[in-house]
Amino acid sequence: MRHLIDPTDLTRQETDEIVALAQDIIANGDRYAEKMHGKKLATLFYEPSTRTRLSFTAAMMELGGNVLGFSDAASSSVSKGETVEDTVRVVGNFVDIIAMRHHVEGAPLDAASVSPVPIINAGDGSHSHPTQTLTDLLTIKRELGHLDNLTIGLCGDLLYGRTVHSLIKAMARYEGTKLVLIAPDELRLPDYIKHDVCDKFGMEYREVASIEEVIGELDVLYMTRVQRERFASIEEYERVKDCFVLDCEKMKGAKEKMAVLHPLPRVGEILKEVDADPRAAYFRQVGNGKFVRMALICRLMEWRDKEMTTHKGVAVEGLRCPNPKCICNCEPVDYSFSLSEGDVYRCIYCSTQAE
Ligand code: NCD
Repeated sequence: MRHLIDPTDLTRQETDEIVALAQDIIANGDRYAEKMHGKKLATLFYEPSTRTRLSFTAAMMELGGNVLGFSDAASSSVSKGETVEDTVRVVGNFVDIIAMRHHVEGAPLDAASVSPVPIINAGDGSHSHPTQTLTDLLTIKRELGHLDNLTIGLCGDLLYGRTVHSLIKAMARYEGTKLVLIAPDELRLPDYIKHDVCDKFGMEYREVASIEEVIGELDVLYMTRVQRERFASIEEYERVKDCFVLDCEKMKGAKEKMAVLHPLPRVGEILKEVDADPRAAYFRQVGNGKFVRMALICRLMEWRDKEMTTHKGVAVEGLRCPNPKCICNCEPVDYSFSLSEGDVYRCIYCSTQAE
């Protein structure tokens, strides 16, 4: 069975096919109206979400299917201490496919290891968010016409931003991608992504300290939420925050065809005045999320007989995962590692370097 846990679970060709299928759904929606007739999707959301959960729900409904689930783990057996594995084994009896969001990293991968139905990772901790990435790719394709040879500015919380991590992994497979990383020192991209993704795929990247100095080079400006609580002090936050706020003045320096993306919610990093700019694509991006999820649900249901080849791990004597927010340190899940760039063992659930 195929699941979608990480963007790289899809080959570049499969990714392109899902984006193309989403475009066909946009053009010929009525042809897909009965595709999931009689099928059920469960949305298991252990963490708050508005657009991701509702877009999964809308996607399944537009395919003629039904949706059940929870959006607050406190109202489910989880509050009695049920593990992710048990919950999924139970829910798998009732539905055909599951979308799961969890604050614990690796929870969807753990779920996939026992699930009788396909699992879609709808965001796990700071780790991964592959359906947001498919949304982003469809948006870039529709706004700019292509996914190759793009200079992409990623701005804001690059350390904890799972949407950023997933987008980088996906873009590494397109020719000529150049990244410009725009973040305060506290929120720079984790080293493992620089080494294991950018360096491995020979993707050019550089780090800068403000939007202003690079905006003129960018084809895509990907904005993300900067959370005040990530900073050591309010003064420190106040000192850096304006470098990472997009306004009409900064937009004057941008290319005529640049696209501004944001996974949303925004909390002040894009001023409202920018919304009227035709390059502001973030509200169109939300709409694209529904179509790409429709395409993904169709594909995963077709691929039920295919094998999952990614996320193969081994137990290594004496090694543990040091991440307290990883599923293997939160629930009875065995440590499992895979060898990555530079002969380093990383946890298969959260990608943290083993110790
Ligand atoms: C993002 C997420 O949840 O990771 N939002 C989303 O899925 N649309 C970004 C965020 O919460 O800041």
